[in-house]
Amino acid sequence: MRPASILLVAAGILAATASSSEPGSSGDIPDGIVSAKGLKGFVRASKLPDPKDPVLAAGKAVWAGTCQACHGGNKAIGAPKITSSDDWSPRIAQGLDVLFDHAINGFLGAKYAEMPAKGGNADLSDADVKAAVAFMIWASGGAEPALGYAQDTTNK
Ligand code: HEC
Repeated sequence: MRPASILLVAAGILAATASSSEPGSSGDIPDGIVSAKGLKGFVRASKLPDPKDPVLAAGKAVWAGTCQACHGGNKAIGAPKITSSDDWSPRIAQGLDVLFDHAINGFLGAKYAEMPAKGGNADLSDADVKAAVAFMIWASGGAEPALGYAQDTTNK
């Protein structure tokens, strides 16, 4: 390949990457899912959209199997509810590294509510847990960092 065509290909990849994180593009969360308090009632995976991104789609399956029981909105347990931006925005603000660490290794919140390591499912790989975190924040007001993580993982 001549240098000029390499540049054209590189520019194409950059353009594709940039456009996929713009609001309303295919990888983005549909309107009406995320709100301050989140969807009404207990939120099962079946009430949530299927992400087009394969990393987030895999995360949805993990979430349904292990995380939904608490993060669907189990008030007794005090887990932040998926789709609630009130619950998630201060947590998303900590950055993905902190969220991944707390999800993989477990975490005791300020009010002594426990997030068990890997949601109590030791069979999950670290990558499974990260994908589930990415899916959860994608559906809770953090589409941008979620898609960023998914793209970085896919391009590795
Ligand atoms: C047994 C209930 C339970 C299960 C199952 C569970 N969580 Fe949690 N999780 C919690 C609770 C409770 C908190 C809130 C702790 C606090 O801040 O008070 C939490 C918080 C979190 C946080 C936020 C951490 C932070 O720093 O604010 C993430 C991310 C998370 N969970 C991811 C997951 C993922 C991914 C799964 C599935 C693999 C999962 N959780 C399964 C109970 C659970």
